[in-house]
Amino acid sequence: MKVNIKTKINNKVYELSVSPNQTLLHFLREELGLTGTKCGCEIGECGACTVLLNGKAVNSCLVLVPQIHNKEVLTVEGLAEGDVLHPLQKAFIDYGAVHCGFCTPGLLMTSKELLDENSEPDEVEIRTAIAGNLCRCTGYIQIVEAIKGASKELRKS
Ligand code: FES
Ligand code: FES
Repeated sequence: MKVNIKTKINNKVYELSVSPNQTLLHFLREELGLTGTKCGCEIGECGACTVLLNGKAVNSCLVLVPQIHNKEVLTVEGLAEGDVLHPLQKAFIDYGAVHCGFCTPGLLMTSKELLDENSEPDEVEIRTAIAGNLCRCTGYIQIVEAIKGASKELRKS
């Protein structure tokens, strides 16, 4: 059985027939080829699969595709504008916050939600916001500094 949905993903409108029991994570990766969204635990524990759904960070492994009907999804592929990286992406590079990179797309999307809602988060607010995004490489210090740096850049623009 398939269900028809209409959705916007990274600013592109899609009208599709989808399997009702497929997760958004697998739909993005396998049907649309948007493999920037990473598949970690698939039980909502690691945050590697985080995308924005109507501006809110969600674990795409816990969302079924029909739930995006009439909603907007933003994935890491939609963060840059053409060749211009989003300030968060630039800051993650500049501050050395990307090591193996597996957690990075999810952290970027969670951080985007945070900075969209709070343009000047303090360290506790940043650490609270990213608490659901696990990173086994960095120790988080560079990630927190990158988010602070991006928030400064965004406030200038
Ligand atoms: S893969 Fe979704 S939270 Fe880990
Ligand atoms: S950079 Fe490797 S898990 Fe975060």
